[in-house]
Amino acid sequence: MNITMIGTGYVGLVTGTCLAEFGHHVACVDKITEKIERLQKGRVPIYEPGLEALVNKNVAEGRLRFTTSLADSVPEADAVFLAVGTPTSRRGDGYADLTYIFEASREIARHLSGYTVIIDKSTVPVGTAAQVERIVRQENPEADFDVASNPEFLREGAAINDFMRPDRVVIGVKTERAADVLHEIYKPLYLLDTPIVRTTIETAELIKYAANAFLAVKISFINEIANVCEAVGADISALARAIGMDGRIGGKFLHPGPGYGGSCFPKDTLALMRIVQEYGESLRIVSAAVEVNAAQKARMIKKIRDMLGGSESGKTLAVLGLTFKPETDDMRESPAVTILPALLEKGARIRAHDPKGMEEARNFLPLEVEYATNAYDACENADAVILLTEWNQYRALDLERIGSLLRKRIFIDLRNVYEPEKLRSLGFQYTGVGRK
Ligand code: UGA
Repeated sequence: MNITMIGTGYVGLVTGTCLAEFGHHVACVDKITEKIERLQKGRVPIYEPGLEALVNKNVAEGRLRFTTSLADSVPEADAVFLAVGTPTSRRGDGYADLTYIFEASREIARHLSGYTVIIDKSTVPVGTAAQVERIVRQENPEADFDVASNPEFLREGAAINDFMRPDRVVIGVKTERAADVLHEIYKPLYLLDTPIVRTTIETAELIKYAANAFLAVKISFINEIANVCEAVGADISALARAIGMDGRIGGKFLHPGPGYGGSCFPKDTLALMRIVQEYGESLRIVSAAVEVNAAQKARMIKKIRDMLGGSESGKTLAVLGLTFKPETDDMRESPAVTILPALLEKGARIRAHDPKGMEEARNFLPLEVEYATNAYDACENADAVILLTEWNQYRALDLERIGSLLRKRIFIDLRNVYEPEKLRSLGFQYTGVGRK
């Protein structure tokens, strides 16, 4: 199949590359010339494990190319994916900004030739596909096309595996013709018996939001229970393991921490609440999850302050991990972006390290943050160490060495990576989340 992927952000790049790996011919299109030139040289602008190698392999094998020109690929495409950004609107009202989706739709319309399925991959409010259809029809009344919705469920840091071995593929379609094209695109997954959920376009659009909102609720739930554990002296790790063994609950997404971040949960929970409001309905549970998440970040600031004896003023803090989760360089909505400026404001000095995110972090954090070359450099003469993102590199630290580098042996483990008893036996004052 010939496929055009519009947008070479995270979703577009991963999806386009994986579809090429499936054997399709894929042209990835972006308006940003600089980005396309970099990609043409084999340089991937984001850090995602395995992606650069897969891009280069598929380019070399002639199935993947990068271009700024829609005219160059849309006419021959059987399917055009929309994978442009849908950020929270600048009006600050929680709505998803659909400018890029609509702009791209207008441009695609002009270049359509032969039957083409326009597939929404971006996370968009219910009803967007219908709007895309209207725009394309208006722009090119003669065009032979269908619009479909095919939401993605990729996790940053694990995106290639999530694409190649998904739990399910959701396709929202109106016609058999469109369904046939989507089935052909995902044919390799039939060999793995991947469930394909075929549904209406509106249902497909809502499935994505509901999945993300549910996961956000699950995290906020366990964070609240972790706080209760702290109050009553219970242990969240044993609790989460035990409740997760109930198949109805499931063990995943029950790790407490400093609050969820990233480009999806914060944005999609807000957008979903807005969509629902328009229909005169409410989502009280999702709304509570959002509030709990903000409170969790604030609670972490207090936790750090308490460990420092009530004030961070004049203290040097070693911070390990800045990205919103490991195996990515993405800083969007990372807890670090809320927590670190608050500490700086109260007079703390911060020396941070992150295996992949330091370059990106400079765009998100105040200039005063200092960056260390490794975890041990960060700890030198610091008054405490804060483990903020659970990178593998931080799971087996030489704790004796850390202890001897620190001015005071204080370990604040916001991801519960270490065993409290172990740390205490080495003379550390230790705190995690939801345990003694
Ligand atoms: C999320 C979803 O997991 C994907 O299925 C979805 O496709 C994607 O959003 C999207 O909408 O594009 P992602 O944001 O990459 O993926 O990352 P997650 O692994 O879901 O983690 C999100 C946040 O939740 C991170 O800050 C992480 O630290 C936090 N988290 C996750 C917890 O605090 N506890 C957990 O148990 C799990």
